[in-house]
Amino acid sequence: MCDTQHLLHNHHHGPEFILDTPEMRDFIAHVKAEIAAGGSAEEAIKRIEIPFAALMDDPDWLPAEYMADAPESGMGKGIGQWALYRAQDGSLCLFALVVPPGKSTPIHDHLAWGLIGLYQGTQDEDVYALTDHGVEMKSHNKIKRGEFFALIPPDDDIHQITTTSDVTSVSLHLLTNDTGCIWRHRFDAELGTTEPFRSGYVNADCEDTNHDHDHPADHDHSHHH
Ligand SMILES: [Fe+2]
Repeated sequence: MCDTQHLLHNHHHGPEFILDTPEMRDFIAHVKAEIAAGGSAEEAIKRIEIPFAALMDDPDWLPAEYMADAPESGMGKGIGQWALYRAQDGSLCLFALVVPPGKSTPIHDHLAWGLIGLYQGTQDEDVYALTDHGVEMKSHNKIKRGEFFALIPPDDDIHQITTTSDVTSVSLHLLTNDTGCIWRHRFDAELGTTEPFRSGYVNADCEDTNHDHDHPADHDHSHHH
């Protein structure tokens, strides 16, 4: 059911800069220039890390509205993704993932390379590997404010985040797809199931370009291995 069309870039007609500030425009221009330079993901990440770290270090950069819990979000439990930037061709996005205290995301993948950093709070991260019968945990990380890491699928692309601080954790995701709107996967480690998963954004709509392949987010397409 989950064919490759869902993994391709989805064009959209919403605004590119949802958080439209000179800092955001500078940062995205820098990132796009590095990507256009045509090096490997590893090389681009090495150069993007510097401006990304500067954003992470600036406590005033992200307005409070994008750090708020998201009770109406499709992910439930107040977890949500606040879109900050979405390239119109679906090739790049920056969003803030908010996870309230004690709450956990589903085990999920991302399907694109980029950088993820923790802007507020603390998190436990369980990293999973694909196996013949689903997924199994392969490592456990404790993440503190200011820490960030590169994501280059397929390595370490599957994880679950739990907020361990008494404030909502806020992590900044810079990824080379339209993460909130593409169809990716949600895993259940105990049942061994994989389901199509689209997280959505709290503050931006996903345009369905593949109506004949529509997967309602609450529709169970799980298949057992
Ligand atoms: Fe994630």
